[in-house]
Amino acid sequence: MLHFKTIIEPFRIKSVEAVKFTRREDRERALAEAGYNVFRLRAEDVLIDLLTDSGTGAMSAAQWGAIMQGDESYAGSRSFYRFRDVVQDLTGFRHIIPTHQGRAAERILFHSVLEEGDVVPNNNHFDTTRANVEVEDAEARDLVIPEGRVPSQIHPFKGNIDLAALERTLERDGARVPLVMVTVTNNTGGGQPVSLENLRGVRKLCDRHQKPFFLDACRFAENAYFIKTREEGQAGRTPKEIAREVFSLADGCTMSAKKDGLANIGGFLALNDETWADRCRNLLILTEGFPTYGGLAGYDLEAVARGLEEVVEEPYLRYRIRSTEYLHERLVAAGVPVIQPAGGHAVYIDARALLSHVPPLQYPGIALANALYVEAGIRGVEIGTVMFGLHPDGTESPGAMDLVRLAIPRRVYTQSHIDYVAEAVIGVAGMKDRLRGYRIRKAPAVLRHFTALFEPLAA
Ligand code: F0G
Repeated sequence: MLHFKTIIEPFRIKSVEAVKFTRREDRERALAEAGYNVFRLRAEDVLIDLLTDSGTGAMSAAQWGAIMQGDESYAGSRSFYRFRDVVQDLTGFRHIIPTHQGRAAERILFHSVLEEGDVVPNNNHFDTTRANVEVEDAEARDLVIPEGRVPSQIHPFKGNIDLAALERTLERDGARVPLVMVTVTNNTGGGQPVSLENLRGVRKLCDRHQKPFFLDACRFAENAYFIKTREEGQAGRTPKEIAREVFSLADGCTMSAKKDGLANIGGFLALNDETWADRCRNLLILTEGFPTYGGLAGYDLEAVARGLEEVVEEPYLRYRIRSTEYLHERLVAAGVPVIQPAGGHAVYIDARALLSHVPPLQYPGIALANALYVEAGIRGVEIGTVMFGLHPDGTESPGAMDLVRLAIPRRVYTQSHIDYVAEAVIGVAGMKDRLRGYRIRKAPAVLRHFTALFEPLAA
């Protein structure tokens, strides 16, 4: 019997969308008009959009079909019950609260349970998670293992939380910790997975200190596939079985269905505790909607329900993880510094290492992201000093790393798109000495990366 090594896209394409080709001078002008911030570009001026894997995936024919089945009843819609059953079957949590996206689940949870001065430990908080903790005057404490902070270091589960550090936090500040969180996969740390063993360790510590344990589950399926392929004794299980065990270790989760929900919008908060669930539902009604739709249309609930079933299918996950790894391999082979190993949803270029002549406070991540756009029409995103360097007290210091993330939308780009991306990144890396830093002309006090206006610094 022949065995084939090529991993192919596990779908064929039924509907396509043209991309627009632009000239370099058009992109230079568009970027200047956007205040040198790629978030402010018009998407149609982007050739290959790797800004995010969030809400940018292609839905399946089955999801589009399910959309026609949406029940738009205000209360008790059939689509809610289908959604609830799928989420419950996967997570096992008792209370399933739909929200319009992940950050709404975060805001509702944190506003309902945090008090001023509280501490939320996590491997790494994502930007919206951190902001939603800090807006309650609480501390978002990042406790990823030391290996997770060194871009070049290889570790199979670089997203693991440092259990000793978590224990110290629980011992010293336990009275101020209302819940422990772990983000799977660890987006801020490079899309790196968290092992089953580590999650079991978190469960044990939470039991000992009687703390609820919540997952930020945005990329739970990618994390499950990494567990299957990298953790001893897990190879024979299905991704769904692994995901179920992961959820069973926690007391609840926040979820953005725009990632591993394979939907363009949607999310949920799921939890076991009834008192917390009641409090959250009351806030939900105030700001999102009635608890059986939570700010979503009935058809969105259908798309998410179907997406959660498709995302744990093994051929999909094999292709998904391999296609990210493929881009990573090509960049590594060309000597481009990237976070090792490849993440699940993205490749992260170490802009601080590549542009060592640009100091962190002149934003090497912005310099690199902007060059990728101007030279090749590719949009990535800075995850670094602009995103994380501004503190609640108004001071600024370098972020832990200065990265440019190339996030791969799910089921959207083909291998030749990715070949083009690799060629472009390698080309831009070759002209790194010509890239200059930036200064901020104007920015808001929170989540400044979305809207800040920049100015290029003179050579
Ligand atoms: N948690 C993680 C780990 C995330 O990556 C995101 C979103 C959220 C929470 C919030 O979810 O966008 O639905 O409100 N990450 C996107 C990204 C935006 O580009 O990585 P949301």
